[in-house]
Amino acid sequence: MNLEQLEKAFQDKIDQEIKIEPKDWMPEAYRKTNIRQISQHAHSEIVGMLPEGNWISRAPSLKRKAILLAKVQDEAGHGLYLYSACETLGISREETINDLHSGKAKYSSIFNYPTLTWADMGAIGWLVDGAAIMNQVMLTRTSYGPYARAMVRICKEESFHQRQGFEILLTLSKGTAEQKAMCQDAINRWWWPSLMMFGPKDTESTNSDQSMKWKIKRKSNDELRQNFVDMIAQQIKFLDMTLPDPNLKWNEEKGHYDFGEINWEEFWNVVKGNGPCNKQRLEARKKAWDEGAWVREAAKAHADKKANLEKTKAA
Ligand SMILES: [Fe+2]
Ligand SMILES: [Fe+2]
Repeated sequence: MNLEQLEKAFQDKIDQEIKIEPKDWMPEAYRKTNIRQISQHAHSEIVGMLPEGNWISRAPSLKRKAILLAKVQDEAGHGLYLYSACETLGISREETINDLHSGKAKYSSIFNYPTLTWADMGAIGWLVDGAAIMNQVMLTRTSYGPYARAMVRICKEESFHQRQGFEILLTLSKGTAEQKAMCQDAINRWWWPSLMMFGPKDTESTNSDQSMKWKIKRKSNDELRQNFVDMIAQQIKFLDMTLPDPNLKWNEEKGHYDFGEINWEEFWNVVKGNGPCNKQRLEARKKAWDEGAWVREAAKAHADKKANLEKTKAA
């Protein structure tokens, strides 16, 4: 087959909802887009452990501590599935991680905001994991097989994350005046950054059209963002709290909530690396990588020894 025929056969497969698998022929740009997106996703899971890990030792009870610990461990697992999915596209784990450390690869900007109080654990679970679910449920149907399958399992765990976050806030919302204020303050600080998680507006999103055609994405940034606003605007009623947006209002005609404008200057500023914690997050990741060198060396020495032993046995 010539290139044109290969490309046509590839697109036909996608149009027929047949998954693309690691050994299948694929356009270089499809491979690159998936590597970029999956690695960015993997990095977000791993960097995302940092703001919450910060609260494990300060959780208010043993039960809360166990739940938060399990949640943060889930995120590590998500990162590992995704790094593995990335490797099936022909890039090494080391290269992927180097790109994070050098700043070449991005991760979700949301994790560059600090976690100031215990209520932030609730707001992150409810809003940040909630926004992640919106995106990831769509990705269970993405065209690249290993990515889609990883998402199925990840989504199950994410819905537990969202519920645990909501439950933290629900408890605070029924507490003392101080606890209520803490709850509202966390919602105020996390609301806008969580809307930013869906990325730039459709009119300014450069990769979107091709990703839709290849069914890497199936919904646009603005569509997903609208779904998220509609969901949260309903759920917040149970908390008796408010969202920090005076323009948030049900629009009967559209069947959706209207909402205010995101501060796009802040959005691009954090993307470019100037958010409140960008530097700190990358430094923490680099330190963890350096401190883990002995584990990688020991694992390699063990694998070599085992391989040698088998060789001698065979001989
Ligand atoms: Fe996750
Ligand atoms: Fe999560």
